[in-house]
Amino acid sequence: MFKTEPLLKSDIVGRAEIETLVNTFYERVRADDTLGFIFDKVAQTNWTMHLPKMYAFWETVLFRTGGFTGNPLAAHARLVPLTDMGRDKFDRWLQLFRGTVDDLFAGERAEHIKNCAADMANVIYSRINGVPDPRFDPANLTLEQRARYSRYQQPAA
Ligand code: HEM
Repeated sequence: MFKTEPLLKSDIVGRAEIETLVNTFYERVRADDTLGFIFDKVAQTNWTMHLPKMYAFWETVLFRTGGFTGNPLAAHARLVPLTDMGRDKFDRWLQLFRGTVDDLFAGERAEHIKNCAADMANVIYSRINGVPDPRFDPANLTLEQRARYSRYQQPAA
């Protein structure tokens, strides 16, 4: 009997890994009950266009090459009148994204891309829904942050 060794995962080093990540991630998104219909039914995504756009997006984020020139805020804002783009959708998106990264890669860039995705999810979610960014929600502040931020407030005239 052969004993199977766990696969040693390596980091994202360039375009090839980004393509693998994006392809695997959107395969999971399309099969997902919470998110799949938003792409295939609501936006009627043209995958032949969307996937290369997302390779370029992540290559630009990680390596400053890739030449992404889209408008992510507008692309998501246009969905708001058509479907719910609430927190649960973004939480699920992030769960699938982090899970895909962790299944395929390990290392500094793998950690970095998950952090970038989380930051952008917060920005997109708050901007398109017109709600405060959860990172700056007073309910999430530590006591130290609360005390520090309260000093920035102008005294009432
Ligand atoms: C609730 C979560 C999300 C949903 C349902 C969603 C859905 C979509 C859809 C339907 C499109 C348009 C695809 C088409 O052309 O048909 C799109 C575009 C895009 N999404 Fe998302 N998205 C989500 C979160 C995110 C996050 C967190 C990021 C960034 C980390 C992101 C990055 C992008 C980018 C870069 C584009 C292309 C924008 C452009 O065309 O310029 N998405 N998304």
